[in-house]
Amino acid sequence: MYDSIQLLTMEKTILITGGAGFIGSHVVRLFVNKYPDYHIVNLDALTYAGNLENLKDVADAPNYTFVKGDITDEEFIPQLFEKYDFDGVIHLAAESHVDRSISDPLAFIRTNVFGTANLLNAAKEAWKGKMEGKRFYHISTDEVYGSLGKEGYFTEETPYDPRSPYSASKASADHFVRAYYHTYGLPVLISNCSNNYGSHHFPEKLIPLCINNIRYNRPLPVYGKGENVRDWLWVDDHAAAIDIIFHQGKIGETYNIGGHNEWTNIRLIEKLCEIMDRKLGRESGESAKLITFVKDRAGHDLRYAIDSSKLQRELGWQPSITFEEGLEKTVDWYLENQEWLDNVINGDYQNYYEKQYSEREKS
Ligand code: NAD
Ligand code: DAU
Repeated sequence: MYDSIQLLTMEKTILITGGAGFIGSHVVRLFVNKYPDYHIVNLDALTYAGNLENLKDVADAPNYTFVKGDITDEEFIPQLFEKYDFDGVIHLAAESHVDRSISDPLAFIRTNVFGTANLLNAAKEAWKGKMEGKRFYHISTDEVYGSLGKEGYFTEETPYDPRSPYSASKASADHFVRAYYHTYGLPVLISNCSNNYGSHHFPEKLIPLCINNIRYNRPLPVYGKGENVRDWLWVDDHAAAIDIIFHQGKIGETYNIGGHNEWTNIRLIEKLCEIMDRKLGRESGESAKLITFVKDRAGHDLRYAIDSSKLQRELGWQPSITFEEGLEKTVDWYLENQEWLDNVINGDYQNYYEKQYSEREKS
């Protein structure tokens, strides 16, 4: 635990929201280990996607505090700002799964739009008359830009064109962040990143879902024809970009983050099958027999591809590993941490899975 003398010696107190989730846990780990003089406060509501197991290696660090709480709570969030006098905020807490946003859009508006506005408002009030040196950094997604055809890339100037309730809620949150910058002078930063992959990824998302299903010889559900393209980035490379942007990004600016690493879903799943066959000692081609084409996602965006040249040019960030290396490491992590996966796949996950995929199979 943390005592008040230690608190006084800390250089900065940083609020990270959603730190018990997939990307958030990588960001918390990076900041706690890299900046021993920072006090990192991780605020997370521990929804189905939040898991303190993700952070057990830093849970007892002297510069780390976990707070269970909801970003939509209008009483609690201002109190938290008062209690800790934050120097900066890195805001990752969100409902993050597109398929869930199709079945329950209002939950996404509540957390992603209202929750973000509630945090912005608390920061505005707490930082009144002392904005100098503060930073409110909002983590967003490339999905706000809509869907690309076969050519071109999303740049920071691409007009917003969200198409799912998830991306519409993230786009709305981005607009509120910019509105607080222009209207109240809140010192904000935004980044829009492509698809992340790596350890501690909840198995509702494509890569961990396929790894888990291959493990149990279950069908690998490919939406539509599997021709949709995603631009995959190693999660620790995203965390490294967040570190650089938080410290060196220019206030009021947006930075796109991506891996220049485009894969159709079907090619990616085939690649995963090859890796899993090798690692599980199966015959080549065995896991690929599990590939099953199912009903497409409603409004399924065809292609995402990020132009991250601004971030590379201005702040010197670049991805550190190739996709082949990253996928190998990811599969190794899941195979070495089957207990994590088994703990995550509890009753709620099974109910979700049955509902999502039995409906797809029926049609
Ligand atoms: P995740 O679903 O794994 O984690 C979200 C976390 O937020 C969980 O720990 C959850 O408990 C917490 N949370 C949810 N609602 C909350 C609330 N009301 N109050 C407090 N905490 C709450 O998500 P992720 O994939 O790690 O994504 C993190 C952020 O990055 C999100 O804002 C997402 O939009 C963005 N993003 C994700 C990706 C990706 O590929 N996963 C890519 C670009 C941007
Ligand atoms: O682009 C960034 C976004 O990437 C983030 O903002 C989101 O939070 C994150 O969830 C992710 O969104 P996607 O919808 O791209 O990720 P998902 O893993 O759900 O799906 C990846 C692709 O695979 C997509 O084209 C849909 C397809 N898919 C997905 C699942 C779960 C399948 O074909 N079968 C599946 O079972």
